[in-house]
Amino acid sequence: MSITAEPTQIDTDKLMSFVFRAVDEVGATLNAALVVMGDKLGYYRDLAEHGPSTPAQLAERTQTAEPYAREWLNAQAAGGYVTYDPGTKRYTLPAEHALAMTDPDSPAFLPGFFQIALGTVHDTQHIVDAARSGAGFGWHEHETDVHVGCERFFRPSYHANLIESWIPALDGVREKLERGALVADVGCGHGASTILLAEAFPNSTFVGSDYHAESITTAQDRAAEAGVHNVRFEVASAQEFRGIPDGTGYDLVAMFDCLHDMGDPVGAARHVREVIADDGTWMIVEPMAGDRVEDNLNPVGRAYYGFSTLLCTPSSLSQDVGLALGTQAGPARIRDVTSAGGFTQFRSVAETPFNRVIEARP
Ligand SMILES: C[S@@+](CC[C@H](N)C(=O)[O-])C[C@H]1O[C@@H](n2cnc3c(N)ncnc32)[C@H](O)[C@@H]1O
Repeated sequence: MSITAEPTQIDTDKLMSFVFRAVDEVGATLNAALVVMGDKLGYYRDLAEHGPSTPAQLAERTQTAEPYAREWLNAQAAGGYVTYDPGTKRYTLPAEHALAMTDPDSPAFLPGFFQIALGTVHDTQHIVDAARSGAGFGWHEHETDVHVGCERFFRPSYHANLIESWIPALDGVREKLERGALVADVGCGHGASTILLAEAFPNSTFVGSDYHAESITTAQDRAAEAGVHNVRFEVASAQEFRGIPDGTGYDLVAMFDCLHDMGDPVGAARHVREVIADDGTWMIVEPMAGDRVEDNLNPVGRAYYGFSTLLCTPSSLSQDVGLALGTQAGPARIRDVTSAGGFTQFRSVAETPFNRVIEARP
């Protein structure tokens, strides 16, 4: 007996609504490159400074070719990033957009988010190959836009929250840092968090570490530029960092947006337990996420699942163990990692739209 499938009824309105949504997303995909272009060429900064402008004015002031400035402005106007006045034929970057596109200290600063996204997307073919073979693709294998974009994306949030609200949310930590404490910032990348902490707590000693040697060189440069002297950096994995000669007795160990990138987060947790003082604190800053997939099906979760697929999970898979926690691991899985490492206390102490801050104690 043969069974004939019923022909599927296509709802044309639903189909066209999906197609037009996808058209908008193709525009958004290209806009990632346009934002990075505008950031690198100084278009946003120029428009913020000079107000309503023609393409010729923007091109002249930024010393770029007018056809590029013209098409870029039209794309930005179609996407709602700038406004266009047909009467004067001038383009304006609204004040709120100017803040988000040009002020690197504002928590709303966006170019870093686009820069890390575009840098990540650039390596898509490597991830396609890795998905077929099951291999990983390491953080260090990505292009510089990923590393610099990461720093520029996360730093504004650390600048806005770390000293004012995250450190005070940890039990007794601010007082220790004010008196003089020993602190490790593990997986520190370009050292944005390490330097903010070192500037705020001059009596304390900070050791930033990361397995990526180029990031550590940049972190050293950033510390020299900032003129901070109570910080040093070393190339080391989270499972092995020492920082100081005997490498134990840390009052605070911090991990900013990196635990889920590690191949062996449980091994890292065990090592943190070995080097931390018995009354010490492990501060874990992770991407904002709930425990269940359905908790994360929102715009922030969408961006983070995208990064998880293309950047963070391949990073974990490129290392020993390759646990692949995922960028949206959620607090329950992070708690499992800290418990397996020998930590008995676990508390979620602060949240922003992008991050959750966790306190783990021995
Ligand atoms: C998303 S970036 C965050 C960097 C920095 N903490 C920040 O917030 O700007 C993740 C960092 O984890 C580092 N990383 C990944 N696996 C690591 C490991 N096993 N040990 C040490 N660092 C690691 C990467 O090199 C990268 O710098």
